[in-house]
Amino acid sequence: MGVKLGILGLGTVGTGTVQLLQDAVGRHPLLQEIEIYRVGVRSLDKPREVQLPSAVITTDLESIVNDPEVDILVEVMGGLEPARSLILQAIKNGKHVVTANKAAIARFGAEIFTAANEAGVYVMLEAAVGGGIPVIQPLKQALSVNRIHTVTGIVNGTTNYILTRMQTEGSDFSDVLADAQRLGYAEADPTADVDGLDAGDKIAILASLAFDGRIKLEDVYCEGIRQVSQTDIAYAEKLGYVIKLLAIANNQANDTSKLSVRVHPTFVPKAHPLASINGVYNAILVEGEPIGQVMFFGPGAGAGATASAVTSDILSLVAALKSNTTAPNPLLSCRHEEYSQIAP
Ligand code: NAP
Ligand code: HSE
Repeated sequence: MGVKLGILGLGTVGTGTVQLLQDAVGRHPLLQEIEIYRVGVRSLDKPREVQLPSAVITTDLESIVNDPEVDILVEVMGGLEPARSLILQAIKNGKHVVTANKAAIARFGAEIFTAANEAGVYVMLEAAVGGGIPVIQPLKQALSVNRIHTVTGIVNGTTNYILTRMQTEGSDFSDVLADAQRLGYAEADPTADVDGLDAGDKIAILASLAFDGRIKLEDVYCEGIRQVSQTDIAYAEKLGYVIKLLAIANNQANDTSKLSVRVHPTFVPKAHPLASINGVYNAILVEGEPIGQVMFFGPGAGAGATASAVTSDILSLVAALKSNTTAPNPLLSCRHEEYSQIAP
């Protein structure tokens, strides 16, 4: 029996995911087990870049989360509501969830993971941080024996793209923002990118995972890039720095009550590993003991990159469903029982 997906959203990420699921069959044996069963959108009249039978697409999103045939809900619609309620309803109905929605996870993570714990389902979120970069899974697994003291990242593709073009081409902020929107990097409301809130959501999630604490967006100091001027850029250049929007979570004291979690434009020395991360690329530098420094690098936004992360989560869940092990599986990240320990 195939595994049936209900997908909420057919925008940049939803389209990329459907395209990848359709094009990559043959690259992974489990892909042929997957059926794109229902897809929820806001408008049926919009032209779509993917071919799907018209009966699959609906504007009735509740019918998807309540459909007993749907095994996995893939939430790639974004926003807080109705995304939160639909995720919770799907969990209540016993569906596993894959989400790219860092805003919903950073704000409602405790509620969502507690509900998942109660229902015995998984919530996977690799695409929520760093676009295509695998970083959630490694933090939960490969690095889990380390004591992590700092996570420093360029975790917003839009602002890194804007800053890079402002610094290398002298481009105007608003022209470059329009390009980032056209390329599908920006959020539906790009103020979340520009004002550092998207990076704030992401560092809240990374810090929660790295430091076993529940850090919410309101705990994060967030400053965006609106105030960065060509004068700042010229000074940085003269002094041997580049300006990057850094998201930093620091637990040097090994005491979560003294955690510092913040997002702000930063003068980064040109020799620093994060200084050369340009354009839509993201990088997350993790420092801990005994490992030392590890850096994750890759495309931080865009259809294909994000679809890669969403699809890897779908495949992990399909593997669990096929092996009939919906019991806690140490190979899956954000296991409900682990994350619920993080919740307050
Ligand atoms: P998007 O292009 O704006 O697409 C959103 C999709 O959801 C659209 O298909 C829209 O339907 C549908 N939708 C939104 N609200 C809806 C509602 N209330 N009812 C019915 N359908 C609704 O967004 P996106 O860029 O793909 O981002 C989706 C999620 O992925 C967000 O959480 C975002 O933060 C996250 N993410 C994005 C990227 C990226 O590079 N874009 C990377 C990582 C994570 P219509 O098509 O009918 O309008
Ligand atoms: N708007 C986000 C960014 C999408 O630019 O990084 C990826 O999460």
